[in-house]
Amino acid sequence: MSSNPTNRESFGSKFGIIAATAGSAVGLGNIWRYPYITGENGGAAFIFIYLAIVLVIGIPVMLSEFTIGRRSQLNVFGAFKKLAPGKPWYLIGVMGVAAAFMILAFYTVVAGWTLEYLYQSAINGFKGKSAAELTSMFNSFTGSSFRPLLWYFIFMGFTAAIVMAGVKGGIEKSTKIMMPLLFALLIVLIVRSLFLPGAEKGLSFLFKPDFSKITTSTFLLALGQAFFSLSIGMGTLITYGSYIPKKDNLATTAVSVVITDTLVAVLAGMAIFPAVFAFGIEPASGEGLAFITIPNIFQQMTGGMFFSVAFFILLALAALTSTISVLEVIVAFFVEELKLKRSFATWIATLSVSVLGVFCVLSTSSLAGFKIAGLTIFGLMEFTTANILLPLGGLLIVIFIAWFYGRQNTLNELTNDGTIKARYIPVFMFVIKFIAPLAIAFIFLKGIGIIKI
Ligand code: TRP
Repeated sequence: MSSNPTNRESFGSKFGIIAATAGSAVGLGNIWRYPYITGENGGAAFIFIYLAIVLVIGIPVMLSEFTIGRRSQLNVFGAFKKLAPGKPWYLIGVMGVAAAFMILAFYTVVAGWTLEYLYQSAINGFKGKSAAELTSMFNSFTGSSFRPLLWYFIFMGFTAAIVMAGVKGGIEKSTKIMMPLLFALLIVLIVRSLFLPGAEKGLSFLFKPDFSKITTSTFLLALGQAFFSLSIGMGTLITYGSYIPKKDNLATTAVSVVITDTLVAVLAGMAIFPAVFAFGIEPASGEGLAFITIPNIFQQMTGGMFFSVAFFILLALAALTSTISVLEVIVAFFVEELKLKRSFATWIATLSVSVLGVFCVLSTSSLAGFKIAGLTIFGLMEFTTANILLPLGGLLIVIFIAWFYGRQNTLNELTNDGTIKARYIPVFMFVIKFIAPLAIAFIFLKGIGIIKI
């Protein structure tokens, strides 16, 4: 079998690998979802459970995905076809490509909102508005059709342009600039936030462990958040793993990405909550936090316009380094399996995702009343991917490595064919054979209501 097609691209440097991969992981999930969930679910107690899940499930799934990708040097579908010829494991790849369509469609909607809010920040559009006015501003924006559609397509255009430019010249090159910028913006915002009078109340909201808030549903929340935030369970990291050069250490890469992702989530909380409390605002939920509460803080703060622009650039960059990784899953599949040219594949992928994307955009306006199983199309995409496809994908991926691909093959890949050590292998194999699948299966079945305790 021809393994390494000579014209196949790969990442060029260690920093590039981390920038691209951590860029995929760090996204809207870290900056507005994680801080709020943490704050409402016991602060440090939630962080503790989240970290345990990341360690026991997140790192092993990530490492399994890297192994599959780098061993096969192929897209998510081709990878399973090659490593398990004639077996139905490639269905994981089919599921991955489907999940990529769904995630990209709803995620780009929110990413588009960040551009509207960046624009509003730049024209000082929040100035003098009360909380009620900011709420109605958000509702009337998301309740309209034209502007959200326009921003959706602009954001999709940026995503497509980067992916079209290739793995090295597009994805790696852009994330090497965007990720350091993201960190710099985050630090600026944290410093501003921590120096506000009353900031310590926000820190204690975030970090004070409150174990009374922990229930079984907290575990599901933490699992879903971990999968979504680490970009695992659907083959994004199989695809990116296939671009990691053979000489790199997959385990240290996985650990660096996990640490970066978790750090950004915690830092985002430290930028947001001290400011929320300093201005005596009730911490609101989800999108409300980023698009209502935060504008409210900025418009009261000295230099607010500057910091508001910084915040929405941060959010847009975080989203963009994630959307490119999702689009790349589909494009790599089209290029390698359907033998399309990269530019054509990107066009086809972008346009076909956008058919679903338009329905997601309109889910807060003209299609708000159209519900399937009680959810709008946007909600359905979010629910199905985060709570069903990702955990299921993650479960099947670890089972594939542990029980089908086997210890020796895995060891070969993780040691770069015997050139580096992988002393963690016994622990890793034990975890992916028993602990991770049981934990995912339990939390998953509980989450969809099959196990009731
Ligand atoms: N991890 C990103 C975030 O936290 C989103 C994302 C990118 C993603 N690629 C993914 C989620 C693949 C699930 C699967 O915002």
